[in-house]
Amino acid sequence: MSTDRSTGPTSGSNGRSSTDLGEPTVRVHVNGMTRELGATSTTSLLRALRSAGLTGTTGACEQGECGSCSVVLDGALVCSCLVAAFTCDGRSVTTIEHGVAADLGDALERHGAVQCGFCTPGMVMAATTLLDRCDGALTRGAVTEGLAGNLCRCTGYRGIIEAVLEVDGLRRNGA
Ligand code: FES
Ligand code: FES
Repeated sequence: MSTDRSTGPTSGSNGRSSTDLGEPTVRVHVNGMTRELGATSTTSLLRALRSAGLTGTTGACEQGECGSCSVVLDGALVCSCLVAAFTCDGRSVTTIEHGVAADLGDALERHGAVQCGFCTPGMVMAATTLLDRCDGALTRGAVTEGLAGNLCRCTGYRGIIEAVLEVDGLRRNGA
């Protein structure tokens, strides 16, 4: 997987409280709303999000290999399966439920970049981060590298890469 992807921030206040049932919880800003997430010592951010009903973030390997669980944590793309939920108290998380930019969604559809859809939430988070962060025009190599942490078993990647390149070009031309 991509080498520049964070695999588990360790900062955070760890200011856990607990539910009436005694489960430790943390307060996390998810897509602009404060949510209370379960956070035992072994709960990953992926599991905490999904347990809170935010099931758009998928997970498969839970070992940092597939990227399907990608979310943005304090501005950094991370594999949420590798982030301990208890480190997220007071932090900001963006998930696929935040939405997909219309131009990116259209381009992915036009290029046949969504087939079974399992990888799509993580792919969208990675593509969005790449598009938002690039200084100059994206090259094919930069897109390939930027999405390297996200595995797709269906598309062969070509359509996904074409879609991201197209969106980058259109945005640069003010479309
Ligand atoms: S489920 Fe997190 S990288 Fe695969
Ligand atoms: S569309 Fe099926 S895994 Fe990517």
